[in-house]
Amino acid sequence: MADQEFPAEPARFVFDTQSEAEIAKVLARYPQGKQASAVLPLLWLVQRQMARQTGSAWLPRGAMDVVAHRLEMPPIRVYEVATFYLMFNTKPVGRYHLQLCTTTPCWLRGSDDLVAACKKVAGIRAFGETSADGLFTMTEVECLGACVNAPILQINDDYYEDMDGELTVALLERLQRGEAPPAPGSMIGRQTSAPVGGATTLLDAAPRTAQPVTE
Ligand code: FES
Repeated sequence: MADQEFPAEPARFVFDTQSEAEIAKVLARYPQGKQASAVLPLLWLVQRQMARQTGSAWLPRGAMDVVAHRLEMPPIRVYEVATFYLMFNTKPVGRYHLQLCTTTPCWLRGSDDLVAACKKVAGIRAFGETSADGLFTMTEVECLGACVNAPILQINDDYYEDMDGELTVALLERLQRGEAPPAPGSMIGRQTSAPVGGATTLLDAAPRTAQPVTE
C-alpha cells in the first residue's frame, strides 16, 4: 500500500484529556529538570492516542515535536529515541499491526505457516506492507521473548501463542468481520508456559512433613 493512501499526517497534534491525565502521572515520577527521562512514556502515549483517534498507532513528526517542547529537549533527541525502538512506528500502520517472530524457535515450530497465512488473508506480498483495506500491517520481528509457546504472533499489544497456519487464518478472518479479537495467550489452552497437556513434575500436592533434626 502506498504511503499516500494512509490518512495524512495531522496538521496539528494536541494531547487529549486522557493523555494529559497520564502525562501528569508520568511527569510526577521525575524530579524537576529531569523531565526528558519521560520521553519513552510520552511517545507511547502519543502512539496510543493516535490509535484511539485514527485507528493507526504511529508517531507523526508534529507529535514528536510536541513531546520535545513539553519535555524541553531538542526535537532531534526525540526523533533518535523514536527511530531506535521497534515499539514505535514512525509511519502509519494498519488497525491491526501483525508482528511475526521468525527467529529460530518460532521458525522451527512453524512460523513460515503463520507468515503465509497472514499474506493470504490480508493480501500482503511482503513484510512492511499494509493491506489494501488498511486493516493489517505485517512486520517481521526478532525473538519476542515467548519462545516457550512458539510460534508467536503479536497483534498490537497482545501475544497470540502456540499458533499455526489455520489458527492464524481464523483469527485474521475474525478481525476482518469486525469481531473483537479473542483473549490473548496460548491458542491451544496451554496453562501459562506449562507443558502441553498439563504438568509432568511436582505432581505430589501434599506438603512433606518436616523431619526433626537429630544429632
Ligand atoms: S523465537 Fe519467537 S518468541 Fe523467541
